[in-house]
This record gives sequence, structure tokens and C-alpha cells, in this order.
Amino acid sequence: MKMTIDPATCSGHARCAAAAPELFRLDDAGYALPVEGEIPAERQEAARDGERACPERAITLH
Ligand code: F3S
Repeated sequence: MKMTIDPATCSGHARCAAAAPELFRLDDAGYALPVEGEIPAERQEAARDGERACPERAITLH
């Protein structure tokens, strides 16, 4: 599983980081930073939690 966070769609709601702080990081302005590479099995539920939490649907899992 990989994750794309669309920077043009992210509006800084920070709900991804609230739902799964072990996976999502925010920049100084409060926007989600990219999550690079393959998401390990033990973090895939966190990735789904973050995806569901984003009201802008900026997070896509592949
Ligand atoms: Fe951005 Fe959505 Fe997270 S708007 S900060 S990706 S909750």
C-alpha cells in the first residue's frame, strides 16, 4: 500500500494527524506532509483511519 496526499486539495484540517499521529505529520502551516514509500502492514489501518478522517478527501490509498 502507498499513499498520496494531494497538496492542492489539503486544506489543513489536521484530522489525519489527529486520527493517526503515528503516520501523519503536518508542516509548520498545518498541512499534511507527504508519506513516502510503502506503508508497512502495521500502519495500514492508521492509513485508512487518516483517509477516512479527511473531509477534503485529499488522501488516496493505492
Ligand atoms: Fe489535509 Fe485532510 Fe489532513 S485537509 S491536513 S489531509 S485531514
